[in-house]
Amino acid sequence: MNAINNTNDFYDAIAEYYPYFYRDWEAQMEREGLGLRTIFRNRGVERVLDASCGAGAQAIPLAGLKYEVVAVDPSAGMLKKAQEVAAQYRVLDRITFERGDFLSLPQVVQGQFDAVITKGNALPHLLLDEEIVTALRNFFTLLRPGGTLVIGMRDFAPFMQDRPRFIPGFAHVLGNGEEFISFDIWEWHDGPPVIATQNLYIITGHSSQLHAIKRQVMYRPLSTDEVKVVLLETGFEDVTDQPNRTERVLVARKPLGS
Ligand SMILES: C[S@@+](CC[C@H](N)C(=O)[O-])C[C@H]1O[C@@H](n2cnc3c(N)ncnc32)[C@H](O)[C@@H]1O
Repeated sequence: MNAINNTNDFYDAIAEYYPYFYRDWEAQMEREGLGLRTIFRNRGVERVLDASCGAGAQAIPLAGLKYEVVAVDPSAGMLKKAQEVAAQYRVLDRITFERGDFLSLPQVVQGQFDAVITKGNALPHLLLDEEIVTALRNFFTLLRPGGTLVIGMRDFAPFMQDRPRFIPGFAHVLGNGEEFISFDIWEWHDGPPVIATQNLYIITGHSSQLHAIKRQVMYRPLSTDEVKVVLLETGFEDVTDQPNRTERVLVARKPLGS
């Protein structure tokens, strides 16, 4: 089992299709903005670091809600897509985009932030214990005392138990009449640590001439309980874990005196 997770090849290849991985991308962005605004309420949040911004599902609505946003992602393709969408939403000048990953964050951005967010199941792309610890320490360092961390991820615990192979995705008819169909085939590799590989299939085109691509990326199938333990060990407090429509949302605070 190769422990190098080439997430950039995967995300660069699918970036142009990313909005189609939601039933309604505009509604999803609106929900993300409102959900974060609810979490940030009464926490004195003005400056936010989105540590895995992808196509901007959180950074763009946050900028629309007048937060000051620094948006980081390691995939050049996803950053390009995010900039394109930010321009459509007229918030391009309100977001600072940087290329980097969880492990290089302190070299890429200047702290401190009132909130750090990483949503959309990005954290489980880190495969090794020490990488997960470093990422959470970086978030801690970049937050001001009293600052808020928000992690959105799949709780892999039930997924690990069932180890599903086939997972249906989405079907859309695009503006030009083309079809877009996606689904996953998952592979499970016994560890330790257990690693799950997502094989994403995307089929596009007109019915008489369809075209398929397959792209692969790995996950460390972490449970939210495992992440909570590492958060507490890193020094975070007040850790909560709530489901939203698409994932679990862990919220934690950097203690005031630290
Ligand atoms: C499924 S997308 C989620 C993007 C966005 N936050 C959302 O909710 O739509 C996961 C993102 O995590 C990024 N990513 C993968 N590995 C990462 C790492 N080590 N550090 C930071 N981001 C990473 C990918 O490039 C991708 O844009």
